[in-house]
Amino acid sequence: MTVKETLTVTIQPPPIHYDLVFGENLLSQAFAYAKTHNFRPFLITTQAIQDLLPHVNEDKIVLPQGESIKSRAMKEKIEDALIERGCGRETCLIAVGGGVILDLVGFIAATYCRGISYISIPTTLIAMTDAAIGGKTGVNVEEAKNWIGAFHHPRKVFIDFTLITTLPQKEFVSGLSETLKHSLIADPDLFHFLETHFEEILARDPLVIKEMVSRSCRIKAKIIEQDPFETRGLRRTLNFGHTIGHALETLSNYSLSHGEAVLIGIKIEAAIAHRLDYLSTASFERICAFLDKLPVSMEFPDHFPYEMMSRDKKGAHRFVVLTGIGSVAPFDGEYVTHLTKENLIEGWNDVVCHY
Ligand code: GLY
Repeated sequence: MTVKETLTVTIQPPPIHYDLVFGENLLSQAFAYAKTHNFRPFLITTQAIQDLLPHVNEDKIVLPQGESIKSRAMKEKIEDALIERGCGRETCLIAVGGGVILDLVGFIAATYCRGISYISIPTTLIAMTDAAIGGKTGVNVEEAKNWIGAFHHPRKVFIDFTLITTLPQKEFVSGLSETLKHSLIADPDLFHFLETHFEEILARDPLVIKEMVSRSCRIKAKIIEQDPFETRGLRRTLNFGHTIGHALETLSNYSLSHGEAVLIGIKIEAAIAHRLDYLSTASFERICAFLDKLPVSMEFPDHFPYEMMSRDKKGAHRFVVLTGIGSVAPFDGEYVTHLTKENLIEGWNDVVCHY
Protein backbone atom coordinates (compact mmCIF):
# COMPACT_ATOMS: atom_id res chain seq x y z
CA MET A 1 0.00 0.00 0.00
CA THR A 2 1.30 3.46 -0.82
CA VAL A 3 0.70 6.39 1.38
CA LYS A 4 0.32 9.79 -0.24
CA GLU A 5 2.86 12.32 0.93
CA THR A 6 0.38 15.10 1.41
CA LEU A 7 -3.00 15.35 2.96
CA THR A 8 -5.06 18.47 2.46
CA VAL A 9 -7.52 19.53 5.07
CA THR A 10 -9.87 22.26 3.90
CA ILE A 11 -11.91 24.15 6.39
CA GLN A 12 -14.47 26.66 5.23
CA PRO A 13 -14.53 29.34 7.85
CA PRO A 14 -18.03 29.54 9.26
CA PRO A 15 -19.59 32.92 8.52
CA ILE A 16 -19.08 35.19 11.49
CA HIS A 17 -21.95 37.50 12.33
CA TYR A 18 -23.08 39.12 15.51
CA ASP A 19 -25.31 42.00 16.40
CA LEU A 20 -24.43 45.22 18.12
CA VAL A 21 -27.51 46.10 20.14
CA PHE A 22 -27.87 49.78 21.04
CA GLY A 23 -30.14 50.55 23.98
CA GLU A 24 -30.50 50.83 27.75
CA ASN A 25 -30.63 48.43 30.73
CA LEU A 26 -28.74 45.96 28.66
CA LEU A 27 -27.29 43.82 31.42
CA SER A 28 -30.63 42.13 32.06
CA GLN A 29 -31.07 41.70 28.31
CA ALA A 30 -27.66 40.04 28.09
CA PHE A 31 -28.54 37.56 30.84
CA ALA A 32 -31.93 36.89 29.25
CA TYR A 33 -30.27 36.37 25.86
CA ALA A 34 -27.77 33.89 27.30
CA LYS A 35 -30.45 31.92 29.14
CA THR A 36 -32.79 31.84 26.13
CA HIS A 37 -29.94 30.29 24.17
CA ASN A 38 -29.36 27.69 26.89
CA PHE A 39 -26.13 29.19 28.14
CA ARG A 40 -25.05 29.57 31.73
CA PRO A 41 -24.30 33.29 32.02
CA PHE A 42 -21.26 34.26 34.07
CA LEU A 43 -20.57 37.94 34.71
CA ILE A 44 -17.02 39.28 34.84
CA THR A 45 -16.59 42.94 35.69
CA THR A 46 -14.72 45.33 37.97
CA GLN A 47 -15.72 46.69 41.35
CA ALA A 48 -16.20 50.25 40.09
CA ILE A 49 -18.51 49.09 37.32
CA GLN A 50 -20.41 46.71 39.53
CA ASP A 51 -21.33 49.68 41.71
CA LEU A 52 -23.03 51.29 38.69
CA LEU A 53 -24.98 48.19 37.73
CA PRO A 54 -28.23 46.83 39.09
CA HIS A 55 -27.56 44.03 41.57
CA VAL A 56 -26.81 40.77 39.80
CA ASN A 57 -27.72 37.68 41.73
CA GLU A 58 -25.87 35.35 39.39
CA ASP A 59 -22.46 33.78 38.96
CA LYS A 60 -19.88 36.52 38.87
CA ILE A 61 -16.26 37.48 39.36
CA VAL A 62 -15.43 41.05 40.34
CA LEU A 63 -11.91 42.23 39.50
CA PRO A 64 -9.86 45.23 40.54
CA GLN A 65 -9.51 48.13 38.11
CA GLY A 66 -6.51 48.82 35.88
CA GLU A 67 -4.40 47.66 32.98
CA SER A 68 -2.40 45.34 35.27
CA ILE A 69 -5.26 42.81 35.37
CA LYS A 70 -4.79 42.20 31.65
CA SER A 71 -2.15 39.57 32.36
CA ARG A 72 -1.47 35.88 31.91
CA ALA A 73 -1.51 35.49 35.70
CA MET A 74 -5.02 36.97 36.00
CA LYS A 75 -6.26 34.88 33.08
CA GLU A 76 -5.10 31.74 34.89
CA LYS A 77 -6.66 32.86 38.15
CA ILE A 78 -10.03 33.41 36.49
CA GLU A 79 -9.80 30.09 34.65
CA ASP A 80 -9.16 28.36 37.99
CA ALA A 81 -12.20 30.09 39.48
CA LEU A 82 -14.36 29.01 36.54
CA ILE A 83 -13.18 25.41 36.91
CA GLU A 84 -13.83 25.53 40.65
CA ARG A 85 -17.40 26.71 40.00
CA GLY A 86 -18.03 23.89 37.58
CA CYS A 87 -18.25 25.98 34.42
CA GLY A 88 -18.16 23.97 31.23
CA ARG A 89 -18.76 24.56 27.55
CA GLU A 90 -22.30 25.78 28.23
CA THR A 91 -20.91 28.86 29.97
CA CYS A 92 -21.31 32.25 28.33
CA LEU A 93 -19.06 34.88 29.86
CA ILE A 94 -20.59 38.33 30.11
CA ALA A 95 -17.83 40.93 30.04
CA VAL A 96 -18.90 44.30 31.39
CA GLY A 97 -16.25 46.99 31.36
CA GLY A 98 -13.70 48.90 29.34
CA GLY A 99 -11.22 47.51 26.84
CA VAL A 100 -9.14 45.80 29.53
CA ILE A 101 -12.05 43.65 30.70
CA LEU A 102 -13.30 42.97 27.18
CA ASP A 103 -9.86 41.89 25.93
CA LEU A 104 -9.16 39.73 28.98
CA VAL A 105 -12.57 38.03 29.13
CA GLY A 106 -12.62 37.53 25.35
CA PHE A 107 -9.25 35.76 25.58
CA ILE A 108 -10.42 33.55 28.42
CA ALA A 109 -13.47 32.66 26.32
CA ALA A 110 -11.19 31.92 23.35
CA THR A 111 -9.31 29.16 25.16
CA TYR A 112 -11.54 27.95 28.02
CA CYS A 113 -12.82 24.47 27.07
CA ARG A 114 -11.28 25.15 23.64
CA GLY A 115 -13.54 28.16 23.16
CA ILE A 116 -16.78 29.27 24.75
CA SER A 117 -19.20 32.11 24.03
CA TYR A 118 -19.00 35.58 25.46
CA ILE A 119 -21.07 38.73 25.33
CA SER A 120 -19.47 42.18 25.50
CA ILE A 121 -21.02 45.13 27.27
CA PRO A 122 -18.54 47.99 26.84
CA THR A 123 -18.84 50.72 29.45
CA THR A 124 -16.41 53.27 28.06
CA LEU A 125 -16.53 55.29 24.88
CA ILE A 126 -13.25 53.84 23.68
CA ALA A 127 -14.39 50.25 24.27
CA MET A 128 -17.73 50.87 22.52
CA THR A 129 -16.02 52.14 19.41
CA ASP A 130 -13.04 49.77 19.37
CA ALA A 131 -12.51 46.77 21.68
CA ALA A 132 -16.13 45.59 21.53
CA ILE A 133 -16.02 45.06 17.77
CA GLY A 134 -13.72 42.77 15.87
CA GLY A 135 -12.78 39.96 18.22
CA LYS A 136 -9.21 40.95 19.05
CA THR A 137 -8.64 39.53 22.51
CA GLY A 138 -5.51 39.17 24.58
CA VAL A 139 -3.28 40.07 27.47
CA ASN A 140 -0.14 42.15 27.86
CA VAL A 141 3.36 40.98 28.66
CA GLU A 142 6.05 43.17 30.14
CA GLU A 143 7.59 43.84 26.75
CA ALA A 144 4.46 44.68 24.78
CA LYS A 145 0.72 45.14 24.81
CA ASN A 146 -1.62 42.43 23.54
CA TRP A 147 1.30 40.11 22.78
CA ILE A 148 -0.55 36.92 23.75
CA GLY A 149 -4.05 36.62 22.39
CA ALA A 150 -6.49 35.26 19.86
CA PHE A 151 -9.20 36.34 17.49
CA HIS A 152 -12.46 35.36 19.13
CA HIS A 153 -15.59 37.25 18.25
CA PRO A 154 -18.32 37.88 20.80
CA ARG A 155 -21.74 36.36 20.40
CA LYS A 156 -23.39 39.71 20.89
CA VAL A 157 -22.44 43.24 21.87
CA PHE A 158 -24.74 45.45 23.92
CA ILE A 159 -23.99 49.18 23.80
CA ASP A 160 -25.67 51.43 26.34
CA PHE A 161 -25.04 55.10 25.48
CA THR A 162 -26.28 56.21 28.89
CA LEU A 163 -23.12 54.70 30.44
CA ILE A 164 -21.17 57.47 28.70
CA THR A 165 -22.68 59.98 31.13
CA THR A 166 -20.95 58.13 34.01
CA LEU A 167 -17.41 58.52 32.63
CA PRO A 168 -14.93 60.94 34.21
CA GLN A 169 -14.28 63.82 31.78
CA LYS A 170 -10.65 62.82 31.17
CA GLU A 171 -11.66 59.30 30.23
CA PHE A 172 -14.47 60.53 28.03
CA VAL A 173 -12.26 63.00 26.15
CA SER A 174 -9.40 60.59 25.62
CA GLY A 175 -11.99 58.01 24.57
CA LEU A 176 -12.71 60.12 21.50
CA SER A 177 -9.39 58.87 20.08
CA GLU A 178 -10.81 55.82 18.28
CA THR A 179 -13.71 57.79 16.81
CA LEU A 180 -11.29 60.46 15.62
CA LYS A 181 -9.10 57.72 14.14
CA HIS A 182 -12.07 56.16 12.32
CA SER A 183 -12.96 59.52 10.81
CA LEU A 184 -9.38 60.16 9.70
CA ILE A 185 -8.83 56.81 8.04
CA ALA A 186 -12.25 56.35 6.45
CA ASP A 187 -14.90 59.03 6.81
CA PRO A 188 -14.36 62.75 6.14
CA ASP A 189 -18.03 63.40 6.95
CA LEU A 190 -17.55 61.98 10.44
CA PHE A 191 -14.55 64.27 10.93
CA HIS A 192 -16.69 67.22 9.84
CA PHE A 193 -19.37 66.04 12.29
CA LEU A 194 -16.79 65.98 15.11
CA GLU A 195 -15.61 69.48 14.22
CA THR A 196 -19.07 70.98 13.92
CA HIS A 197 -20.56 69.30 17.00
CA PHE A 198 -17.51 69.83 19.18
CA GLU A 199 -19.30 71.61 22.02
CA GLU A 200 -22.26 69.19 22.07
CA ILE A 201 -19.88 66.26 22.13
CA LEU A 202 -17.99 67.67 25.10
CA ALA A 203 -21.31 68.38 26.82
CA ARG A 204 -22.27 64.75 26.03
CA ASP A 205 -25.49 65.71 24.31
CA PRO A 206 -27.30 62.33 24.14
CA LEU A 207 -28.44 62.60 20.51
CA VAL A 208 -25.05 63.75 19.28
CA ILE A 209 -23.26 61.03 21.25
CA LYS A 210 -25.61 58.41 19.88
CA GLU A 211 -24.99 59.52 16.32
CA MET A 212 -21.22 59.77 16.86
CA VAL A 213 -20.86 56.34 18.49
CA SER A 214 -23.04 54.52 16.02
CA ARG A 215 -21.21 56.11 13.06
CA SER A 216 -17.87 55.17 14.60
CA CYS A 217 -19.02 51.57 15.23
CA ARG A 218 -20.27 51.32 11.65
CA ILE A 219 -16.84 52.25 10.27
CA LYS A 220 -15.08 49.71 12.44
CA ALA A 221 -17.61 46.99 11.58
CA LYS A 222 -17.24 47.68 7.86
CA ILE A 223 -13.46 47.32 8.03
CA ILE A 224 -13.72 44.14 10.13
CA GLU A 225 -16.16 42.60 7.68
CA GLN A 226 -13.67 43.03 4.86
CA ASP A 227 -10.63 41.81 6.77
CA PRO A 228 -11.75 39.92 9.90
CA PHE A 229 -8.38 38.38 10.75
CA GLU A 230 -6.11 41.17 9.52
CA THR A 231 -4.87 38.97 6.70
CA ARG A 232 -5.82 41.17 3.75
CA GLY A 233 -4.38 44.44 4.91
CA LEU A 234 -7.36 46.73 5.36
CA ARG A 235 -7.70 46.05 9.09
CA ARG A 236 -4.18 47.40 9.53
CA THR A 237 -5.56 50.88 8.86
CA LEU A 238 -7.07 50.67 12.35
CA ASN A 239 -3.52 50.82 13.67
CA PHE A 240 -3.21 54.46 12.60
CA GLY A 241 -1.97 56.41 15.62
CA HIS A 242 -1.29 53.18 17.48
CA THR A 243 2.28 52.37 16.41
CA ILE A 244 3.51 55.39 18.29
CA GLY A 245 0.56 55.38 20.72
CA HIS A 246 1.30 51.86 22.01
CA ALA A 247 4.99 52.70 22.43
CA LEU A 248 4.12 55.79 24.48
CA GLU A 249 1.65 53.85 26.56
CA THR A 250 4.18 51.13 27.37
CA LEU A 251 6.93 53.69 27.99
CA SER A 252 4.72 55.52 30.47
CA ASN A 253 4.11 52.25 32.29
CA TYR A 254 0.39 52.84 31.60
CA SER A 255 0.26 56.16 33.42
CA LEU A 256 -0.89 57.43 30.02
CA SER A 257 -4.24 55.87 29.19
CA HIS A 258 -4.68 54.11 25.86
CA GLY A 259 -6.84 56.96 24.60
CA GLU A 260 -4.38 59.67 25.62
CA ALA A 261 -1.48 57.78 24.04
CA VAL A 262 -3.43 57.26 20.80
CA LEU A 263 -4.35 60.96 20.58
CA ILE A 264 -0.64 61.80 20.75
CA GLY A 265 0.12 58.96 18.32
CA ILE A 266 -2.44 60.37 15.85
CA LYS A 267 -0.81 63.78 15.97
CA ILE A 268 2.69 62.46 15.40
CA GLU A 269 1.69 59.97 12.72
CA ALA A 270 -0.25 62.74 10.93
CA ALA A 271 2.89 64.90 11.16
CA ILE A 272 4.94 62.11 9.61
CA ALA A 273 2.44 61.81 6.72
CA HIS A 274 2.63 65.59 6.29
CA ARG A 275 6.43 65.54 6.35
CA LEU A 276 6.46 62.86 3.66
CA ASP A 277 4.10 64.96 1.50
CA TYR A 278 1.23 62.51 1.66
CA LEU A 279 -0.93 64.82 3.76
CA SER A 280 -1.53 68.45 2.80
CA THR A 281 -0.66 71.25 5.19
CA ALA A 282 -4.33 72.28 5.28
CA SER A 283 -5.46 68.79 6.37
CA PHE A 284 -2.64 68.46 8.89
CA GLU A 285 -3.51 71.80 10.41
CA ARG A 286 -7.19 70.86 10.61
CA ILE A 287 -6.27 67.69 12.51
CA CYS A 288 -3.96 69.62 14.85
CA ALA A 289 -6.64 72.28 15.43
CA PHE A 290 -9.12 69.60 16.47
CA LEU A 291 -6.62 67.87 18.77
CA ASP A 292 -5.45 71.13 20.32
CA LYS A 293 -9.01 72.07 21.26
CA LEU A 294 -9.55 68.85 23.20
CA PRO A 295 -9.37 69.47 26.94
CA VAL A 296 -6.76 66.81 27.53
CA SER A 297 -3.09 67.28 28.25
CA MET A 298 -0.90 66.00 25.45
CA GLU A 299 2.33 65.51 27.32
CA PHE A 300 5.19 64.14 25.31
CA PRO A 301 8.09 62.21 26.83
CA ASP A 302 11.54 63.80 26.50
CA HIS A 303 12.67 61.52 23.74
CA PHE A 304 11.13 59.67 20.84
CA PRO A 305 10.11 56.14 22.00
CA TYR A 306 11.97 54.45 19.16
CA GLU A 307 13.06 51.35 21.05
CA MET A 308 9.54 50.70 22.30
CA MET A 309 7.89 50.57 18.90
CA SER A 310 6.73 47.25 17.55
CA ARG A 311 8.53 45.87 14.54
CA ASP A 312 7.73 43.33 11.88
CA LYS A 313 9.74 40.11 11.46
CA LYS A 314 12.43 41.97 9.49
CA GLY A 315 12.87 44.47 12.29
CA ALA A 316 11.17 47.35 10.45
CA HIS A 317 8.47 49.69 11.71
CA ARG A 318 5.30 49.62 9.64
CA PHE A 319 3.08 52.67 9.49
CA VAL A 320 -0.34 53.56 8.16
CA VAL A 321 0.06 56.82 6.24
CA LEU A 322 -2.78 59.33 5.92
CA THR A 323 -3.27 60.86 2.47
CA GLY A 324 -6.10 63.13 3.52
CA ILE A 325 -8.88 63.40 6.04
CA GLY A 326 -10.73 60.13 5.48
CA SER A 327 -8.14 58.32 3.38
CA VAL A 328 -4.95 56.30 3.78
CA ALA A 329 -2.25 55.29 1.31
CA PRO A 330 -3.13 51.81 -0.04
CA PHE A 331 0.47 50.68 -0.70
CA ASP A 332 -0.70 47.87 -3.03
CA GLY A 333 -3.28 46.61 -0.60
CA GLU A 334 -0.76 46.40 2.26
CA TYR A 335 -1.95 49.71 3.77
CA VAL A 336 1.35 50.05 5.63
CA THR A 337 4.84 51.08 4.66
CA HIS A 338 8.25 50.96 6.26
CA LEU A 339 9.57 54.24 7.57
CA THR A 340 13.09 55.08 8.58
CA LYS A 341 14.14 56.30 11.99
CA GLU A 342 14.85 59.69 10.39
CA ASN A 343 11.28 59.91 8.99
CA LEU A 344 9.91 59.19 12.42
CA ILE A 345 12.12 61.60 14.29
CA GLU A 346 11.39 64.41 11.82
CA GLY A 347 7.63 63.92 12.33
CA TRP A 348 8.13 63.79 16.10
CA ASN A 349 10.18 67.01 16.07
CA ASP A 350 7.56 68.76 13.93
CA VAL A 351 4.95 68.13 16.62
CA VAL A 352 7.09 68.54 19.69
CA CYS A 353 8.93 71.66 18.50
CA HIS A 354 6.33 73.51 16.43
CA TYR A 355 2.84 72.62 17.58
N1 GLY B 1 -8.09 47.77 17.58
C1 GLY B 1 -7.70 47.49 16.25
C2 GLY B 1 -8.39 46.33 15.67
O1 GLY B 1 -9.41 45.89 16.18
O2 GLY B 1 -7.94 45.82 14.68
